[in-house]
Amino acid sequence: MNTGAGPRGPGVLVIEPMGNAGRFLVEAADRLGIRLYAATHKDIYDTYPPWLGSALSGLCATDLADVPRALEEMDAFCRRHRITGIAACWELLTPLAALLAERLRLPGNDPVLARAARNKILMGEAFAAAGVPAPRWTVVQDAGQAHQVAASHDLGWPLVIKPAEQGGSWGVSIVGGPDQLSAAVAGAQQYTHAQPHGVALDTRVLVQEYVPGEEYSCETVIAHGVAYPLPVVRKETTEGTYRIETGHSCPADLAPPMARRVQHIAARAALAVGIRNGVAHTEVKIRPGASMPDVIETGARLPGGNICEIVEAASGVSAAAAYLQAVLGRVPDTAPLRSDAAAIRFLLPERGGRLGRIVIPEVTGTHSELHLRPGDMVPQPTDSSCRIGHVVARAETVEQARRLAAQVASRSRVEVS
Ligand SMILES: Nc1ncnc2c1ncn2[C@@H]1O[C@H](COP(=O)(O)OP(=O)(O)O)[C@@H](O)[C@H]1O
Ligand SMILES: [Mg+2]
Repeated sequence: MNTGAGPRGPGVLVIEPMGNAGRFLVEAADRLGIRLYAATHKDIYDTYPPWLGSALSGLCATDLADVPRALEEMDAFCRRHRITGIAACWELLTPLAALLAERLRLPGNDPVLARAARNKILMGEAFAAAGVPAPRWTVVQDAGQAHQVAASHDLGWPLVIKPAEQGGSWGVSIVGGPDQLSAAVAGAQQYTHAQPHGVALDTRVLVQEYVPGEEYSCETVIAHGVAYPLPVVRKETTEGTYRIETGHSCPADLAPPMARRVQHIAARAALAVGIRNGVAHTEVKIRPGASMPDVIETGARLPGGNICEIVEAASGVSAAAAYLQAVLGRVPDTAPLRSDAAAIRFLLPERGGRLGRIVIPEVTGTHSELHLRPGDMVPQPTDSSCRIGHVVARAETVEQARRLAAQVASRSRVEVS
């Protein structure tokens, strides 16, 4: 950790920078001359990779699961270090960032609405109140209620069963009929706390109408309540019961009017959950033949899955830099600088087990990274925690980028025993 030396620009406290977006924040802060500080638990800080530890100007060691204590300690820390911006990387911690920003009178999100950006029940209510198009849903406490809802509501089949609070497709399943409902509800209720901080979760379950069609995501940077949309990204997922992301590509290959509608609806979703100075990652699906997308979810955070890298490679816009600018109350740099293309494909196992040999071919125009190593255990492919690695391809057109990334993924070999 760098304590003292380094840039003397404005300081931003990141509430838990560990995770996919952290590295993009570190790069962006370096470019913008911003001092980055982390708020986390001391034990978690001790597991930070060297690139993260050495990029920090200081550490606020606290317990992020204990909201009153964390607010007290982060407040004192921010005042001591003259911190003028608050950011968060983890969806579950974004309400804490809103509360802290309000307490310090710094640019932030609406603290009253902030929980709607992490809890899908409150989110559904906020979308309905703001007229944001979204799938129909209801909430249940257990499998018995889910059976009643499936029998009495006209949500149809398949149904989507998902936890009120989670991410990365954890506990989300698409069920084709009543015989699969109880297992799906049990799957959605398996997490009572989110690690590594031990944040307590709302264990209620959403029963949601299934939206067919292609899936997209879009980042919206919001500064002083003004929305600045980033390019739309196309998302690929597995089919069937578990929808795990298999890749992303940018540009999204949508006709320009539809791309603008996705950006517009994403901005409305972000504003509906109280994002005022920050960033939103919004996921939508477009039903075949529909003129308007349906919002699946939004979160007051940068995207995961290296979407920051894909969007910047394609358009020159850094979502992380724009986010830092927004939390400092500045106008974010979101004007596209180029019209290139990029795609990412994730390497997923066919089943869980111990990883053996992993071979990823080297192909010009691509680079790859492993998240797990031979000898590591990989879980069953039911959510994003089964990612073994990824390959990123850059090209002039998105078809070429997707083809290159798919080629490398299909020629990669992953042994699981
Ligand atoms: N109502 C729905 N209709 C169709 N697919 C859905 C629906 N809800 C979720 N999914 C699929 O499941 C994935 C994960 O669900 P999501 O609500 O985004 O939860 P998470 O917060 O875990 O990412 C989505 O990306 C999408 O592919
Ligand atoms: Mg999602």
